[in-house]
Amino acid sequence: MRIATIVGARPQFIKMAPVSRELRKHFDEIVIHTGQHYDYDMNRIFFEQLNIPEPDYYLGVGSGSHGYQTGEMIKRIEEVLIKEKPDLVLVYGDTNSTLAGALAAVKLHIKIAHVEAGLRSFDKRMPEEVNRVLTDHISDYLFAPTETAVENLYKEGINTGVYLTGDVMYDALLHNIKIARDKSKTLRELGLRSKNYLLATVHRAENTDDRSKLENIINAFVESGEPIVFPAHPRTRKYLEAYGLMEIVSKADNIILINPVGYLDMLVLEENAKKILTDSGGVQKEAYFLKVPCITLRERTEWVETVEDGWNTLVGANKEKILKAIWEFEPMGKTYTYRFGNGRASERVVQILVGTL
Ligand code: UD1
Ligand code: UDP
Repeated sequence: MRIATIVGARPQFIKMAPVSRELRKHFDEIVIHTGQHYDYDMNRIFFEQLNIPEPDYYLGVGSGSHGYQTGEMIKRIEEVLIKEKPDLVLVYGDTNSTLAGALAAVKLHIKIAHVEAGLRSFDKRMPEEVNRVLTDHISDYLFAPTETAVENLYKEGINTGVYLTGDVMYDALLHNIKIARDKSKTLRELGLRSKNYLLATVHRAENTDDRSKLENIINAFVESGEPIVFPAHPRTRKYLEAYGLMEIVSKADNIILINPVGYLDMLVLEENAKKILTDSGGVQKEAYFLKVPCITLRERTEWVETVEDGWNTLVGANKEKILKAIWEFEPMGKTYTYRFGNGRASERVVQILVGTL
C-alpha cells in the first residue's frame, strides 16, 4: 500500500514527523512538499532537526494570493498523484496545502485521511477555518485530536470515518522536549533567564494584514516593559516594514526581535517563558502542554480546552486587554493533557490505517 503525505507549511513538518516514523513501518510513503514555506528557517531546519524523510516531490509553489497558491498546488499535486497512484493521501491541519492536497485527491477518487480533523473556530473569515471545514467534508478518515473535534464533526453530520486519536503535536513535543533541553543553547545565546521573559509569535492574517491590529499588538508589547522574545514570521516582518512599525520595534529596548527559530529552540523558549503571547494554533497547545500561561491574540480559538482549563485567555488585538493579561493573567487550575491523548496519537493513526485500508 502506498500513502502520499502532502505537506508545505511549518506546522505540517512538525506534525508529520511522528506520524511518518510510524507509517514507514507498514507502508510505502511518498512525501509531496508543495513549497508553501521555503525559507531555510521555515522549512529545511525542521527536516534536519526532526529527521523527517526528504520530500520525493518538491513542487515549488511558493507565495501568492489564495487563489493562485491553492490553484497552482492543485495542478501540481494532481500530476504527481496521477503518476504515483497512491492508495491514500494524508493531509495535516488547515493550511492551503491541506485543502489543495484534499481537493486534488478527491477528484481522482483517491481516499483522503485528515490529521487534525474537526477543529473549528466558527469564524469563516479565517482562511484556516475554510480549509478545515472543506477538507473534513471530503475526507474518508477523520483523525480527531480531541473529543471536542469529534463532536464538531458529528454536528456537521460527519459520522463515518471519525476516529478520536489524540494530538500528534503532543507526540512530537514529548518526543523532542528532552532532546531540546540537551541541545538548545538559545537561552544563553539570547542572554535570557528562565521565567524572566515573555515569548511572542504573531503571524495570522487577521492580525498582520490589519494595520491597526498589528499596531495595537506592537504598542502593547512596547508598553508592557517586559522583556519579550519575538521570533517573527516572514509575513509579520513584511507587514511591520510596510506599516512603518519596524522602527518602533527596533527602538524598543524590551523587544528582542529574532528570525523564526527551529523546533528545538522553540520548545526551550516556550518552556522557560513566564507567559506566551501568540495567535498560532500550535503554540497555544504547546503552552498548555508545558504549563505556561498563554495570552492568545485572537477573538476565537479552535483549541477550546486550553481556555476551559484556565491556561489560555483570548484578548484579540486589544491593547488594554493584552496589557492587563501580561500583568495579571494567572491560570486558575490544572492542565489535563489527557484531553490531547497519551502521546501515542501517531501510532493510533497508523494502526487504524493498517486495520482498515
Ligand atoms: C500559513 C497558513 C497558516 C499557518 C501558517 C504557519 C494558509 C492560508 N495559512 O500562513 O494557517 O498558521 O502558514 O506558519 O495556508 N513567506 C516567506 N518565506 C516563507 C514563507 C512565507 O517570506 O518561507 C512570506 C511571504 O511573503 C508570503 C507570506 O509570508 O506571502 C505568507 O505566507 P503563506 O504561506 O501564504 O501564509 P502564512 O502566513 O505562512
Ligand atoms: N514554531 C517554531 N519556530 C518558530 C515559531 C513556531 O518551531 O519560530 C513551531 C511551534 O513550536 C509549533 C509550530 O511551529 O510547533 C506552530 O506553527 P505556526 O505557529 O507557524 O502555525 P499554526 O500552528 O498557527 O498553524
